[in-house]
Amino acid sequence: MKRITRFDNQGRGIAFDDKKTLFIANALPGEEVEYRIIHENSKISEAISTKIASPNPHRVQPKCPYYNICGGCNIMHMSAELQQEFKKEKVANILKKFADIDWNIRLITSGHQLFYRNKITLKVRNGKWGYFESLSHQFCGISTCLIATNDINNDLKYKEFISLNNGEVVIRSNSNHEVLMSVTTEDDIKIDYNSIPENIIGIVGNSKTLYGKNYFIETIDRYRFKVSYDAFFQVNNYGLKMIFEILANNVRGINLLDLYCGVGVLGISLKDNFQNIVGIEITENAVIDAVENAKMNDVKAKYYAGDTGEILKSLEMNFDTILVDPPRSGLNRLTIDTIINLNPDNIAYVSCDPMTLARDLKILKEYYEPIKIYAIDLFPNTYHVETVVILKRKVDEESTIEYERSFIPKR
Ligand SMILES: C[S@@+](CC[C@H](N)C(=O)[O-])C[C@H]1O[C@@H](n2cnc3c(N)ncnc32)[C@H](O)[C@@H]1O
Repeated sequence: MKRITRFDNQGRGIAFDDKKTLFIANALPGEEVEYRIIHENSKISEAISTKIASPNPHRVQPKCPYYNICGGCNIMHMSAELQQEFKKEKVANILKKFADIDWNIRLITSGHQLFYRNKITLKVRNGKWGYFESLSHQFCGISTCLIATNDINNDLKYKEFISLNNGEVVIRSNSNHEVLMSVTTEDDIKIDYNSIPENIIGIVGNSKTLYGKNYFIETIDRYRFKVSYDAFFQVNNYGLKMIFEILANNVRGINLLDLYCGVGVLGISLKDNFQNIVGIEITENAVIDAVENAKMNDVKAKYYAGDTGEILKSLEMNFDTILVDPPRSGLNRLTIDTIINLNPDNIAYVSCDPMTLARDLKILKEYYEPIKIYAIDLFPNTYHVETVVILKRKVDEESTIEYERSFIPKR
């Protein structure tokens, strides 16, 4: 038996052996647990609890029949309140430890703990559809996913019209209850076209449209977005609305630079706050969508397809605000330096990984002061958390004159 002292960043319980730190899945602070080791080296052991004595009062019975088997959710054994407490502390601890930013984090929640995900990726193995088990990486067939939207779940009878032995299937739904599927496989894809349910609006196989369309239209608030099968779109529409609100209330000016813009969603949602939008995105289909989305939403915007760092090198324009929403890996040093050299008044950093956010803020905060930090529970029942940080350009303390755009030398 070991006593759990606190959480790690993945919501696992931490305990100590003589010489090792134990990271125990499904174990909460205050609990005494028995455990089974899954992986270990000379310093740490990763384990899963097998028996819990004195359960934490916030422990709940997970609703999902595949919990602890499938790798999707990892903190469903915590009450919603404990999940939120864990995420607040996680963001606060990471920002303090890695960026030396001391902040009393508030977590914004939508109240939708289940059925929120508009996209899932299923593996197909020997004709069975499912996920990989989180710890053993064994395949686990599933017939329901409680965090996916009802529309995705209703259609988990996909096998009735698609016959596939091995591969991967991405299933997405929109708020109009339409479902778009994209299959990647080395096998033949056999489709029974007569049995496809009405709400399946498209099936893409190895990037070719096999049925219907290769995109869907999503409506969020008063905005409409075309989203191609391979373009990024936030997986939680409730959370996306909260991000829209935070940005709309905090950034304003004439020119907005929307980096890692996907199909243009965040920039377009700021159309009342800026006159011109420039976006950069690496996925070509997403850029094509962004151009259409700007037209559809009556927004003056220009989009560039390619790597942010590369395109930024030749961008000659002044921006009041630079919005960045990079993948989990965050920004690289060159991109951060270029952003600082562009010298915007504000930077809005939207992040899905507090670790890389903290790493980048440590550099940015030499020139930019974080003035607002919001943590958003975009991924309930998983240890992931979204963070939005609003940064304002610092005033030159010696001269008490604000930095002019040309003051910061090109590096
Ligand atoms: C977290 S998503 C954000 C998308 C968009 N802001 C949204 O909210 O829908 C990150 C985006 O960055 C794009 N991306 C990844 N690496 C990139 C790079 N080096 N340069 C430009 N875009 C990149 C991805 O294709 C993806 O669309």
